[in-house]
Amino acid sequence: MTQQCDWLLGNLRLATLTDSEIPYGAIEDGAVALAGDRVIYAGPATDMPDLAARRRLDGRGRWATPGLVDCHTHLVYGGSRAPEFEQRLRGASYEEIARAGGGILSTVAATRLAGEDELYTSGRQRLLRLLEEGVTTVEIKSGYGLDLESELKMLRVARRLGEDLPVTVRTTFLGAHALPAEYREPGADAYIDMLCRDMLPEVARQGLADAVDVFCEGVGFSPAQTERVFEAAAAHGLPVKGHVEQLSDLKGAVLAARHRALSVDHLEYLAAADTNVLAEAGTVAVLLPGAFYYLHETRLPPVAALRERGVPMAVATDLNPGTSPMASLLTAMNQACVLFHLTPEEALRGASVNGARALGLDDRGQLVAGQRADLALWDIDSPAELSYGLNYHRPGALFQGGVLQHDH
Ligand code: NIG
Ligand code: FE
Repeated sequence: MTQQCDWLLGNLRLATLTDSEIPYGAIEDGAVALAGDRVIYAGPATDMPDLAARRRLDGRGRWATPGLVDCHTHLVYGGSRAPEFEQRLRGASYEEIARAGGGILSTVAATRLAGEDELYTSGRQRLLRLLEEGVTTVEIKSGYGLDLESELKMLRVARRLGEDLPVTVRTTFLGAHALPAEYREPGADAYIDMLCRDMLPEVARQGLADAVDVFCEGVGFSPAQTERVFEAAAAHGLPVKGHVEQLSDLKGAVLAARHRALSVDHLEYLAAADTNVLAEAGTVAVLLPGAFYYLHETRLPPVAALRERGVPMAVATDLNPGTSPMASLLTAMNQACVLFHLTPEEALRGASVNGARALGLDDRGQLVAGQRADLALWDIDSPAELSYGLNYHRPGALFQGGVLQHDH
């Protein structure tokens, strides 16, 4: 009997992003078949099995890519940091502002005050900007609440966004993002005690987080404090990731790799020699060129060493009010090429398959049978165009979980 499928997409060029000698794992004259929320065929049209399709779509020669994955955002928050942007342009550094109680803590104050609906509405606006560019999976961190109720509030908002919009939302508990003002006395160790004893267990109990993150930095938490959070996460069965080596080299990446972190993020100060440990642990290196750009950083992450060791590199927006108010993953891909010297193919893999791996997801990010039916069709001549032009491209058609969102 002829097998049924829900969608047959023909006349496509496929950037499958499989491991292949061929750039982008490209297949000209490609076809894709979807059944339910899965891809059941992606390959040359000529090899396509005989399928009875409920609906068909003419790709008109467009390029199909997997739906994009933004694996690092802080897009739920209250307030704005435009005044701090002005301060920094007058010469104040990010760290000076943070130590004076501004920076992350000013967003904490605004986020604590904001009602859940208000956070939802502003977060939704930012998330919609990402979806317009073909993002079908996004990670959202907490970390602007820094008390139990406010952290739970942020995570509930993130979950609700994923229920209401055509996107998979993965949430990350980032209670160890900054030391809240009320803990300046007794200090960071006391805050981490409370986080491990009260916050993390309750977040885990309510099933509100898929992973746990720590800002390991001079203006954040020490490696010893970071490790305690990682241990608490493991005790609750949650995988970890880390903001590490963004402003200095505290060896946070090595620590995270020892704890089998899904990813280590930022990495401008990562020592080239430490890339070995990441390769062995299978930890993804998440590059965040938006924060590098906004902070006028000059030190580059060790991309050549990461590439040489075969550490998977992801690219994400880091969408946040302080260091990366940038709701555009395609822009992050362009910046990864221009600022960090990634190839456009690395940037695209970084914003799809490797982004998915940074979230512990292996069911998406490539156009192959068995993967989730998240895919975007682009009216471009080659996949490099996605990283080449700024604000040139939007997907002409987008499927999320096998459901056609639009076809222009
Ligand atoms: O990823 N590095 C720490 N956290 C964010 C910045 C958050 C903020 O400044 O509000 C980041 O860059
Ligand atoms: Fe971040």
